[in-house]
Amino acid sequence: MNRKTAVITGASSGIGMELAPMLAAYGYDLILTARRVERLQKLADDLHKMYGITASVVGMDMAQPFAGEALWKAIAAIEPDIDLLVNNAGVGVSGNFAEEAPEAIERMLQLNIAGMTLLTRHVLPGMIARKHGRILNVASLAGFQPGGPGMAAYYASKSYVLSFSRGIRRELRGTGVSVTVLCPGPTRTEFESTAGAQETRLFHWSKPMEAREVALAGYRGVMRGSAVVVPGMVNKFLALSPKFSPAAVALEINRYLLAKRG
Ligand SMILES: NC(=O)c1ccc[n+]([C@@H]2O[C@H](COP(=O)([O-])OP(=O)(O)OC[C@H]3O[C@@H](n4cnc5c(N)ncnc54)[C@H](OP(=O)(O)O)[C@@H]3O)[C@@H](O)[C@H]2O)c1
Repeated sequence: MNRKTAVITGASSGIGMELAPMLAAYGYDLILTARRVERLQKLADDLHKMYGITASVVGMDMAQPFAGEALWKAIAAIEPDIDLLVNNAGVGVSGNFAEEAPEAIERMLQLNIAGMTLLTRHVLPGMIARKHGRILNVASLAGFQPGGPGMAAYYASKSYVLSFSRGIRRELRGTGVSVTVLCPGPTRTEFESTAGAQETRLFHWSKPMEAREVALAGYRGVMRGSAVVVPGMVNKFLALSPKFSPAAVALEINRYLLAKRG
């Protein structure tokens, strides 16, 4: 039987970890990657037992320079023909940009932008040659915004993911390869604490969605070949809001919402 293989980056927690059983239930063999390999191995063992699929684990720090290439080499050594790529791994850095740790900014940009871009570049030629493939990139509602004072570099990195996804989707029309971008709003995952987001008014006032609901929306979207998926009714409205409010107003609202609660 012709097996299909999916790669999920950032599969050790949150949205990526919730996507893994959905793809396993569909019948995909999985290559799971992140830094915390013991978590990945436990997930891989559970999914193998539950769904009879093959699940492999690759430990990789994607915030390192040239990680996209290193990860591709490790993936290709397991299975070079990838049918579905989920670029989910990402982190946030919050606070006044001039006070954020330079090393944390560098690592975030490597992970959120360079790593996923280069991994996609390595995976795509095989998909195009086989005339079949699906890519799911995880951006954010933040990607639609004109800017995020208080999380400026993170917001900009997610605008990149949204723009990049739309651009390559159009380039790939007619090739059999579809690109879907998932744009979640606040979601209950480890991101809340690692990005310092739970201290913001935005996370305090909004009701974060569960990671499973968000993953399910992404799963359905990538299977349908949708262009952009925004999970949740309120988030759908918020994704449209920059079209109707001047950038200066949106920036003031974002500055207020992204400020840490005193
Ligand atoms: N939660 C939200 O409110 C929210 C909203 C919009 C968009 N998003 C986006 O959703 C995506 C998934 O995040 P999440 O909310 O599920 O957060 P999460 O629970 O913190 O998951 C992040 C994943 O990325 C991996 N990761 C972090 N740093 C890494 C590195 N240097 N190298 C390799 N993998 C790394 C983590 O694994 P290890 O630590 O094991 O490496 C983990 O598996 C991110 O792109 C995030 O920007 C989240």
